[in-house]
Amino acid sequence: MATTTDIDNREELRRAAVKHLWMHNRGWSEMAERGEPVVMTRGEGVHVTDNTGKRWLDVNGGYMSVNIGYGRTEVADAAYEQMKSLAYFPQATTTEPVARLAQKLAAITPGDLSRTFFVSGGSEANETSIKIARAYQQRVGEPGRYKIISRKASYHGALGLTTWLGGPPSGSTRSDYGPEFPGMIYVSQPNPYRCEYGGQTPSECAELCAKAVEDAILFHGPQTVAAMIAEPVSVPASVAVPGDEYWPMLREICDRYGVMLIADEVITGFGRTGKMFSVEHWDVVPDLMSVAKGIVSSYMPLGGSIARESIADAFAGGDESRFLQHVLTFAGHPVPAAASLKNLEILESERMVENSAEMGAYFLEGLRELGAKHPMIGNVSGLGLLVGIDLVKDRDTKEAFPKSAKVGERLIGEFEKRSLILRPSDTSITMGPPLCITRGEVDEIVTGVDGALGEVERQLAVRAD
Ligand SMILES: Cc1ncc(COP(=O)(O)O)c(C=O)c1O
Repeated sequence: MATTTDIDNREELRRAAVKHLWMHNRGWSEMAERGEPVVMTRGEGVHVTDNTGKRWLDVNGGYMSVNIGYGRTEVADAAYEQMKSLAYFPQATTTEPVARLAQKLAAITPGDLSRTFFVSGGSEANETSIKIARAYQQRVGEPGRYKIISRKASYHGALGLTTWLGGPPSGSTRSDYGPEFPGMIYVSQPNPYRCEYGGQTPSECAELCAKAVEDAILFHGPQTVAAMIAEPVSVPASVAVPGDEYWPMLREICDRYGVMLIADEVITGFGRTGKMFSVEHWDVVPDLMSVAKGIVSSYMPLGGSIARESIADAFAGGDESRFLQHVLTFAGHPVPAAASLKNLEILESERMVENSAEMGAYFLEGLRELGAKHPMIGNVSGLGLLVGIDLVKDRDTKEAFPKSAKVGERLIGEFEKRSLILRPSDTSITMGPPLCITRGEVDEIVTGVDGALGEVERQLAVRAD
């Protein structure tokens, strides 16, 4: 039973957050009106508990990033032990966990990806990958190559350069931060559900979109293009799983024109899609791979840019001018590295990558069955435990609901009533729970989505024809 003092303390804490905390993508006046923010205090497996004692199922697994699930004290112990013996030392030397983690990543990443530059998160990982790509082109005698190709509706981060990669249509998240970063080339997303080139099957869409990358390289001049960056499976526009042709074609096109291929595995890495890394679905080895999130299941800030041996070798040699000129205070921090090693041990020993493939297939099946019942479901797609629903007003035309229908807001309210942490947009619901999820917990989510969609369809008077 909460005492009056408990309630007063909670309320005081909530007010302090509303007054002083600058939270991303939430307005504080809106939070104040809704009696938010919710303050979380504990986590275990796929569940988190807030400071009123309410238990939630975290369908998003943090930001699709708590791969091993919450509450693994072994990870905390590993970090604690490292912090007690040596909390930090910069990277001109190294420490055991950092060297061991670099070695481990070389062993589990595909092909000859073998050298890691550590950073503190996904945006930094991508900034680093782009800098390595541009610096590499300089070192191989291609100083004119600086342009970067990315895809519309992709997300690669929120820092200086990454803000300008991929992204939504102009006018939204970037309008405050101009002028545009130079050298950005945008191509279409191989989203089989809404193929920009009218591809009727995932394969057709994949081929048309890969061909568009080649066209863009030729249009801009191969001698000006440094790299292409892409998430193997893209999330912001629901979950866009490309046709099987796409990644092998990208690899081949990039090779043909001397363009480096960067796979952004920040979300998809470490088992999220049912393989350790999602490029493995297509047997493709990128030149650089950006990782974060699942590398340490978000227990601490950590990321990395992992390079193929042949790429990294261009930076070797006694001459200082060959080094990568790129320094970050927390690059190669031993505490998150120790936590990451324990995280990877748990991921492997408890077969969570395999569980992601199995539970992901089961989850997709459950959501597809809902499709028969809910006219708002335009499409269900996914790979492993990265699954999404496209929400539509009209299945035949794929027309979205108008903003005024407030679909996202209504759904959030319904999910909250069902104790599900899930923040859909007006056009999609994307889900990425911890990889330790069980069948019963998947059922719980599917039942919750079913109930929430049913209620919103009732409110909006949406009926099946
Ligand atoms: C594919 C992808 N790349 C990069 C990022 C940026 O990572 P961070 O938020 O850790 O900077 C994200 C974050 O969601 C992401 O999904």
